[in-house]
Amino acid sequence: MSTPVAILISGGGSNMLALARSMTGDHPGRCCLVLSNRPGAGGLARAESLGLATAVVDHRGRSREEFEAELDATLRGHGAEVLALAGFMRILTPGFIRGWAGRMLNIHPSLLPKYPGLHTHQRALDAGDAEAGCSVHLVTEELDGGPVLGQARVPVLPEDTAETLAARVLVEEHRLYPQCLRDFLERRPA
Ligand code: GRF
Repeated sequence: MSTPVAILISGGGSNMLALARSMTGDHPGRCCLVLSNRPGAGGLARAESLGLATAVVDHRGRSREEFEAELDATLRGHGAEVLALAGFMRILTPGFIRGWAGRMLNIHPSLLPKYPGLHTHQRALDAGDAEAGCSVHLVTEELDGGPVLGQARVPVLPEDTAETLAARVLVEEHRLYPQCLRDFLERRPA
């Protein structure tokens, strides 16, 4: 029986597409829901074009507690057992994270533990790093601080801007995240 996986997005959802497309055939997981905190997220239409169930839980005008209560109920209502954050831009409270401990993954566009938080590519350029990359990690109460499940590295080129570097890293994200999710699900106790 495959594990129901909910993918959480806030934007274009390119990582969501890569994950959803990877969950076919003998894959140990299946995408049970694509959920966005933003009603206009481009990833919603992309998910619907794949025939995936979608939901919106809008964070605007609501307390963090109200938002997370509906988020949690929606996820569990769709039978999700594992969460994959994919360009999901809300910081979740320790209480929510505890409810999904060990079952929530995220992709972060840096070689953790370097550059947790935002603007990771510009920070790598400013530091003169020779390489950059992305990390898939388990989500814990420490922002971008959980156990790393996998990383991918790319060279930083002399003419790079944050945009050109982000585009090079994004290609690796689309390869790394599906690989890490599959490995994670295969290791989970039945
Ligand atoms: C990606 O760089 C990802 O690492 C970060 O959000 C960016 C956009 O992701 N978390 P997507 O195209 O919405 O999947």
